[in-house]
Amino acid sequence: MTSSDEYLLIKAAFKQPVERTPVWVMRQAGRYLAEYREVRDKAGSFLSLCYNPELAAEVSVQPLDIIGVDAVIMFSDILTPLVGMGVELDFMPGPVLANPIKNQRDIDHLHPLIPEKSTSYVGEILRLIRQQISGRAPVIGFAGAPFTLACYMIEGGNSKLFSKTIKFFFNEQKLAHQLMEKLTTMTIEYLNYQIENGAQMVQLFDTWAGILSPDDYKSFVFPYVSRIFESLNGTGVVPKVYYINGSNHLLEIMSGTGADVIGLDWKCDIQTVKQQIGHKVALQGNLDPNVLFCNPEIIKEKVLEILTKFGSESGHIFNLGHGIDKNVNPEHLKEMVKAVKENSKRDC
Ligand code: CP3
Repeated sequence: MTSSDEYLLIKAAFKQPVERTPVWVMRQAGRYLAEYREVRDKAGSFLSLCYNPELAAEVSVQPLDIIGVDAVIMFSDILTPLVGMGVELDFMPGPVLANPIKNQRDIDHLHPLIPEKSTSYVGEILRLIRQQISGRAPVIGFAGAPFTLACYMIEGGNSKLFSKTIKFFFNEQKLAHQLMEKLTTMTIEYLNYQIENGAQMVQLFDTWAGILSPDDYKSFVFPYVSRIFESLNGTGVVPKVYYINGSNHLLEIMSGTGADVIGLDWKCDIQTVKQQIGHKVALQGNLDPNVLFCNPEIIKEKVLEILTKFGSESGHIFNLGHGIDKNVNPEHLKEMVKAVKENSKRDC
C-alpha cells in the first residue's frame, strides 16, 4: 500500500514538489465509456448503479485501467445523500426531486443524515475501491455543496435561470439560512464518513454558486462552506478541493474558505488566477471540456498552453473545467492524459 503522502495528487494538492503534474477528470466514470454503459445496463438504471457497491466500485476503477488517470473518484452522485434526509429522488435522465422546497414545513420535514444508516453503500464502495486498486492511486470522495444542493431542492431538478432559487433565497432569507444550516450539517457528516471509510481527498462541488454576486455569495454561501472545511477530519492529510463553475468573480473569496485546492472552470486564465490566489491554494483545472471533441494535435496544444501558463512549480492538478461530455471519444481523453504526463516532467 502506498502511503497517502506519496501520491502525486496529494503532494500537488499540498503544493509539495512533484515529478510531474497529476491528472484526473470530473465525471471520469461515465457514459463516454462503453465499459461504463455496459455495467450501467446490467444495474438497470443510474440510481441502481449508485446503490450497488460492487458495480459502483467497478465503474469507479474503469478510468484508472482504461484511461490511465492518476486518481479514482468514487462513483455516486451529489444528490443521493439527500434521500437519507427524506427527499424523493429520481433520474430521467436528469435529476427529478419530488416535493420541491417552498416553505417552513418543507424544511422542517428534512431530517438529519445518519451516514452509516442511509449511505452505508458509499462506505462499502470506498472500501471496495481501496481493496481493488491496492494503492495504485488515491481515492477521491465528494459531496455537493449546500447552495448547489439547495438549487436542486428548490427547483425540483435542472434549471437554466434558477429563478425559483433566487426568489427563495432573497424573499425568504430566514428560511434560506435554515436550509443552508441543515445541508451544512449533513455535508460535514457525509464527508467525514467518507474520510473514515477511505477517501484520501475530498471535493466539494458547488457547481451553481457562480450565479451569485460576490456580496450574495459572501452572505449565503461563504460561512457555510468555510464551516464545512473547518469541520472535516484529516487536516493536512486529506486535501479539500472546492469547485464552482463560472467562478471568476468569486476566486479571491473562495480562496479564503479553508480549501487546499480551488477547482477552476475553463473561462479563467490559470496564469492570472495563480498570481491572484496561487500563494494560498493549489489550483485544479482548467481545460475546456469541448476541446476533447477536437483533433488530437489541438488537444495536445491546448494542454501545453495550460501547463505553460501554470509553470513548473508544484500546486497544479490537471483536470477539465467541468465534467466530461457523454459523446467524447475515449481515445481523445487518453491523448489529453498522455500530453499532461509527457509534458509536465520536472526535477524535484
Ligand atoms: O466524477 C465522477 O466520475 C464521479 C461521479 C459523479 C457523477 N455526478 C456521476 C453521474 C459526480 C462527482 C457527479 C457530480 C454531480 N452530479 C454534479 C456536480 C458536478 C457537475 O457536473 O456540475 C451535479 C450538478 C450532479 C447532478 C446530476 N447528476 C445531473 C445534473 C445529472 C444529469 C446529467 C446528464 O447529462 O443527464 C446527473 C447524472 C449523472 N451523475 C450521470 C453520471 C455518470 C449520468 C447518468 C447516467 O449514467 O445515466
